[in-house]
Amino acid sequence: MIDRFTTDRKATLTVDGRTFELPIVEGSEGEKAIDIRMLRGKSGYITLDTGFMNTGSCSSDITFLDGENGVLLYRGYAIEDLAGNCSFIEVAYLLINGHLPTRDQLRDFSELLGLFALIHEDMVHFFDRFPPGASPMSILSSMVSCLCNFYPEMNENPMDNIDMMAARLISKVRTIAAFSYKKSLGAPLVYPRHDLSYCANFLNMMFDSPVRSYEVNSTMVRALNQLLILHGDHEQNCSTATVRMVGSARVNLYASISAGINALWGPLHGGANQAVMEMLEDIHASGGDYKKYIARAKNPDDPFRLVGFGHRVYKTFDPRSRIIKKACDDVLASLGINNDPLLELAKEIEEVVLKDEYFIERNLYPNVDFYSGIIYRAMGIPVDMFTVMFALGRLPGWIAHWKEMWDDPNGRISRPRQVYVGPSQRDFVDIGQR
Ligand code: SDX
Repeated sequence: MIDRFTTDRKATLTVDGRTFELPIVEGSEGEKAIDIRMLRGKSGYITLDTGFMNTGSCSSDITFLDGENGVLLYRGYAIEDLAGNCSFIEVAYLLINGHLPTRDQLRDFSELLGLFALIHEDMVHFFDRFPPGASPMSILSSMVSCLCNFYPEMNENPMDNIDMMAARLISKVRTIAAFSYKKSLGAPLVYPRHDLSYCANFLNMMFDSPVRSYEVNSTMVRALNQLLILHGDHEQNCSTATVRMVGSARVNLYASISAGINALWGPLHGGANQAVMEMLEDIHASGGDYKKYIARAKNPDDPFRLVGFGHRVYKTFDPRSRIIKKACDDVLASLGINNDPLLELAKEIEEVVLKDEYFIERNLYPNVDFYSGIIYRAMGIPVDMFTVMFALGRLPGWIAHWKEMWDDPNGRISRPRQVYVGPSQRDFVDIGQR
């Protein structure tokens, strides 16, 4: 696919007195890249780019980010339009199939999700064996990895079954998440219902109980749809790049997604939404002196980071955090929560940080994780489930990227190079002489 975007312009590299020409690629939104696929063969040199700050691992037509201007497009549609007009399932369909669904396509996809909402009853017993306090993210990645044993359609050509596998995953991950919450409480499982929408079903499975019925709140459902949409995809972030890396070895979809869940777990990535809430709760519990935490974040000798701020790509406001911040006000107002102390604290921190030279010169703005936890908490979702919520939202993006990688005729196993800096070959020393 990338060859369609190769221009006739060249970059020249002169090294060791030799000059090499490298093709220049220009993406559909003007991103420019130097194609170095032939670099080592021509020059004997590789490039070094720890953390891939400057390196593209692939071409993709799923999501576009403009970090300088705070733009996020899913298959060309602005995140603001999607978050304001679609359901999560509509956007999941868009990410996976490349176009917004017609009414019939959306109906058929929703029916598949309903059909696949249960997990195999043998898998339900797995929950009896996780120790109390087991991390919901470890439960999620274990259960998802195990799906390939119960649904072996992966062994045939996955592209023949991708719609079924996508619907199966999106639906079952929601059930697994809710079941793991109920199990953590020692409460009876609430099974999915065929008469509820995707998000309403999740909230019902989380909060309904045989002794106290749960009234699905339309504001919560709307907010949850929006939150999941905002987490839907984000180019080659750490967890998506992991799904593509693992999948490139021709690993099945479920195991590749399980790897992505584990990457998302990290506090520098999806785990930040939980870390933000814990940070806000710590500040609130210790008297609200957030300036002490900001000072720590600025201290080069202190590893503490102000979680919820900064981003590898966005060097201005993360467009998602703006939308979530507005949704915060709506959700809390609908719950009659007029002044949530943590939301007030978050707004105060944001106000101070945005005027602070340290953060300004490093282009550190609130990211998607800064406000999301406040809404999840208002919904009654426990803090240790926040990153699971991120995974629920990111799942369609992971599936879309796995499918794009799997389908790429020029695809190959991902295997980065390195620069070796260890000892040169030396004589072996027998243990008696060491
Ligand atoms: C997500 O990639 C994605 O798209 C991710 C994501 C997605 O949707 O998939 O958007 C989701 O992961 C959002 C990010 C959530 N993480 C956090 O909120 C954790 C806190 N943020 C950081 O750790 C950091 O900003 C990262 C990890 C997000 C980005 O790290 P980078 O791009 O490697 O930047 P860096 O570590 O090189 O920092 C550059 C400078 C450094 O200072 P100097 O060495 O130049 O003096 O900025 C400083 C950093 O110390 N810095 C921070 C900071 N983030 C960066 N200082 C204080 N607090 C912070 N949060």
